Amino acid sequence: MNADRYCVMGHPVAHSRSPWIHARFAALTGERIAYDALLVPLDGFADTVRAFAAQGGRGCNVTVPFKQQAAQLADTHSERVAQAGAANTLVLEGGRIHADNTDGLGLVADIEHGACVPLAGRDVLLIGAGGAAAGVLAPLLARGPRRVVVCNRTHRKAHELAARHQDCAALHKTELLALDQQALEADFDLVINATSSSLAGAPVPVPAHALRPGALAYDMMYGPAARAFLDWATQHGALARDGLGMLVEQAAASFALWRGVRPPAGQVLAELRTLLTAP
Ligand code: ATR
Repeated sequence: MNADRYCVMGHPVAHSRSPWIHARFAALTGERIAYDALLVPLDGFADTVRAFAAQGGRGCNVTVPFKQQAAQLADTHSERVAQAGAANTLVLEGGRIHADNTDGLGLVADIEHGACVPLAGRDVLLIGAGGAAAGVLAPLLARGPRRVVVCNRTHRKAHELAARHQDCAALHKTELLALDQQALEADFDLVINATSSSLAGAPVPVPAHALRPGALAYDMMYGPAARAFLDWATQHGALARDGLGMLVEQAAASFALWRGVRPPAGQVLAELRTLLTAP
């Protein structure tokens, strides 16, 4: 029997670690899958998904810059996709496309199980209001933190993101507000960087007093892109964690959606860290 086919679609995509991660999941669970990286032309996302499905493809992950298009292309989508306005996982079945978003699930799993910080009752600062922040806000709220503050360089976008999630926050009895950087007086148990400011070589866009003693500072990126934020956090006494665990956990959630089997994410994260830090 041939292996079931999956892939990650993006532009660029050559740097993606997803093929390696899913190959390890398959080996460790005994699932027979083949998973490739597919470079998609910028104007060819929908055609590529349909062609992949027509050739027997069972599902795909979607990365930059196609996550919004993936949400729009789908015949059906999860509530998570509706709230994020973006999808990172497509399930291709019987000629139909179902979209989900596992980014926020990955972030929450890595914070609660990887870093061992339960979110319930905590004060959380989410920095950024672009696609990365929008993709994780609802799953963060679903864990019942006491308070979530969204802070973004362009305040209007933070305000809009928070406004879109007020019902979700109320459901979980969480206070949700958008604040300007200058208005940030409180400190937080958890500070999440969902901006691309370090890619631009810009300083961390919030004051260091936002870090409560013993706080967890989490960058959703990993590798050199996360360095500036993690160094800043460590210099100010916080526990710093990059987004590699989120990457593995979101992949694990996609794998579980496709295969109905939960892969050992912790083991694969440890292996990936070793691989990436090897000389
Ligand atoms: P992504 O999908 O990665 O979130 P995006 O939608 O372009 O990408 O959003 C990038 C985020 O990083 C935004 O919150 C952006 O702030 P603005 O909304 O003000 O553009 C933030 N960002 C990018 N460069 C930044 C910088 N130099 N300082 C502060 N925030 C920055």
